[in-house]
Amino acid sequence: MAAPRKLAWISDTHLTASGTVEGVASTARLEQAVDQIARYHGDALACIGTGDLTDRGEPEAYADVARITARLPMPFLPMIGNHDLRGAFRAALPPPGEAMEDYQQFRWDAGDLSLLCLDSNSPGEDGGRLDTARLEWLEAQLADCADRRVLVFIHHPPGALWLGLQDGIMLHEPEAFLALLKSSAALEYLFCGHVHRPVSGVIRGVPFTTLRALAHQVRPGHALTDWADFVSPDERPAYGVIWVADDRIAIHADDIEEPA
Ligand SMILES: [Fe+2]
Repeated sequence: MAAPRKLAWISDTHLTASGTVEGVASTARLEQAVDQIARYHGDALACIGTGDLTDRGEPEAYADVARITARLPMPFLPMIGNHDLRGAFRAALPPPGEAMEDYQQFRWDAGDLSLLCLDSNSPGEDGGRLDTARLEWLEAQLADCADRRVLVFIHHPPGALWLGLQDGIMLHEPEAFLALLKSSAALEYLFCGHVHRPVSGVIRGVPFTTLRALAHQVRPGHALTDWADFVSPDERPAYGVIWVADDRIAIHADDIEEPA
C-alpha cells in the first residue's frame, strides 16, 4: 500500500479583535493548533478551516487568521461559516484554487484528490443554505471529477443530528445537496463544522464527520435546552488529521495540548 497522504483540519476558530470568545483565548488557540499541526503533521497537503473563522466578522480578526495561518507549512483553505461576513472574509482570505466569483466556494486539487469546499453562509441567519448557483457549481464540479476522488467540506451539516437547539440551525432544505452527493460515485466523504462537537454518521448513504471547535465547545443536545444558558463545557479543543490511502480514509481528532 502506498504511503497515505494527509490533510489537516481545523474548525470554528471564532477569532475576535479582543482575542477571546465565550471565556476562551481563541486567537492563542489558533496559534497552538498551527504550531501542533506544523510540528506533527507538517507534511500534510493542506489545512482546511471549515468556517466560523471569526466570531463576528471583524476585519482585525480576519487579519489575525491570515497572519497566523500563514505560518502553516502547507496551504490553508479558508471556508466561511454563519458567524463570518463574506466581504471582510474574502478581502483577507481570498479563495484558493478554482472558485466561484461571488462566494467563498472553491475546488482545490492535489494529485487525484479533489476537495470541494462549499459556502453555506446565508446572511442574517445562523442556519445555512445552498442556493441554485452554488448547487449548480457543485453539480458541474462533481461531473468534472467523475474519475477523481472527491472530498466535500461544508460548514453546516445537512440535517438534524440530535443536537437539541442546534438541529434548528443546520443546512436548511438539504435535499438537493444530498441528492447531488448521493449521485456521485466519486464522492468519498463529507466533512462538516458548525456544531462544535464530534459527531460521525451517514446521511442518505453519505458518510460524514464533524469536529470539535478550536474555540469554545457546545454541550450535548440533551444538555443545551436554552441558548440563554449557553456555557462552554470544559472540553479540550481538537484539530483533525485526515489520512487518505488508496483504499481507505481515517480521520483522527487530536487534542490541543494544554489549551490556552
Ligand atoms: Fe461555530
